[in-house]
Amino acid sequence: MMPEKEVLKNLTERYADQIRHRPTACVVTFGCQMNARDSEKLRGVLQGAGFELTEDEKADFVIYNTCTVRENANTRVFGRLGRLKNYKKKNPAMILGICGCMMQEKGAAEDVRTRLPFVDLVFGTFNLDRFPHLLALVLSEKLQDCSSAALAEPVIEVIDDEKRNPEELPSVRTFPFKAGVNIMYGCNNFCSYCIVPYVRGRERSRGEEDILKEIQGLCADGVKEIMLLGQNVNSYGRDLGHETGFPELLDRIARETDLARIRFMTSHPKDLSDRLISVMAEHDSICSHLHLPVQSGSNRILKRMNRQYTREKYLDLVGRIRAAIPDISLTTDIIVGFPGETADDVQDTIDLVREVGFDNAFTFLYSKRTGTPAASMPDQVDPDTASVHFNRLLEAVHETALERCGRFAGRTVKALVEDVNRHQEGWVTGRLEHNLLIHFPGKRELIGECVDVDVKESRGFYLIGDRRETFGD
Ligand code: 5AD
Ligand code: SF4
Repeated sequence: MMPEKEVLKNLTERYADQIRHRPTACVVTFGCQMNARDSEKLRGVLQGAGFELTEDEKADFVIYNTCTVRENANTRVFGRLGRLKNYKKKNPAMILGICGCMMQEKGAAEDVRTRLPFVDLVFGTFNLDRFPHLLALVLSEKLQDCSSAALAEPVIEVIDDEKRNPEELPSVRTFPFKAGVNIMYGCNNFCSYCIVPYVRGRERSRGEEDILKEIQGLCADGVKEIMLLGQNVNSYGRDLGHETGFPELLDRIARETDLARIRFMTSHPKDLSDRLISVMAEHDSICSHLHLPVQSGSNRILKRMNRQYTREKYLDLVGRIRAAIPDISLTTDIIVGFPGETADDVQDTIDLVREVGFDNAFTFLYSKRTGTPAASMPDQVDPDTASVHFNRLLEAVHETALERCGRFAGRTVKALVEDVNRHQEGWVTGRLEHNLLIHFPGKRELIGECVDVDVKESRGFYLIGDRRETFGD
């Protein structure tokens, strides 16, 4: 049973009495947008309990929301944990937690218990909804002896059943003007390199009414842009029994809300329908940007990756998208060094990058994930070869990105201002619907506003502009 909010508040108050100040809490996020959204919920619970939120990892309560999609993500977490151990030596009352995808892996919690005895709280992605309860448990244990850095027994709860979603948790949004909204959890695709289906479970879609209600609430709260989140949004609704799910959901959101911008990610190419393309083309509020991970341009590798499309099918899809929405920006993910990948396969990928003309691509070196089919493929690529291939690909990606960004020079674009510019006093940074950043002179008051900007210059991966003053400004 979830503890009453009051019980949790009361425990936090008692903890505050012990440490003699209002406790601070820091949530550190690794990985993707899904994790970022989960972290907003962790913050919501902590703030509701009475903690003061901070970005400082010297806080009284620090929790790492981890990612495990690639090995280096794990290494980074362990590296940073070492630093926290030192903070804890100075402040034994500190409480340290780890959660997220890395903790959902088999054996990870046990590993933490034996190798990192200074960690007080561990839970996985399947029981994020239990955070208020687990926080109460760890606080009451800590209250027994705040002067000792290690708990007698750390609070560890990792479960195998992913059926419960964290919908009921409160959340603290990172931005007042834009928000992420989960439409589904999990993934059924089992790409052969990917650990996500194992740590996020099978696909579970949220009900349409639920999603719409959340979005309407966000709109009433001043949100102008939303990002619909799911590991593969294009299969939204399948588990609920409706095949045409995502395009119809998107259409309803565009029709029934007054959002300025609607985004979504991620789209698996095999499930992107013509109906989705037409819904995108029909509504101005649906952003002219599609993140469409291709992973490889070689049919042989795509097959071994279990991606369930060919390069020809991908190119055909891109053709249909561009025919309907000519100015759309396309971005992608690519893996280099997948088992068995040769120089010819990489050349196929480079050719595809040029043919599509991606606006940007996230390129990753293949990382072996225990338990995935690719991890036991015999022909693993040696790191030096992979690194040479990686650099060749990167060059092609830079070339196409530069060229694509150039198309905005001289145009007037709409930018949603996100922040003041950190490098240039008196400037702000906004985002185009194409997901590109533009920097221009402007005041902090513009944050959250959608403004017209004349593009003066393309700098390859971002734009420089001047605000177009409108009548009445
Ligand atoms: N190694 C390297 N990159 C990976 N990705 C997923 N699994 C791996 C892995 N084992 C990449 C894919 C995916 C992105 C989120 O991470 O490109 O689209
Ligand atoms: Fe991983 Fe493939 Fe699912 Fe994406 S679609 S989360 S790459 S298994």
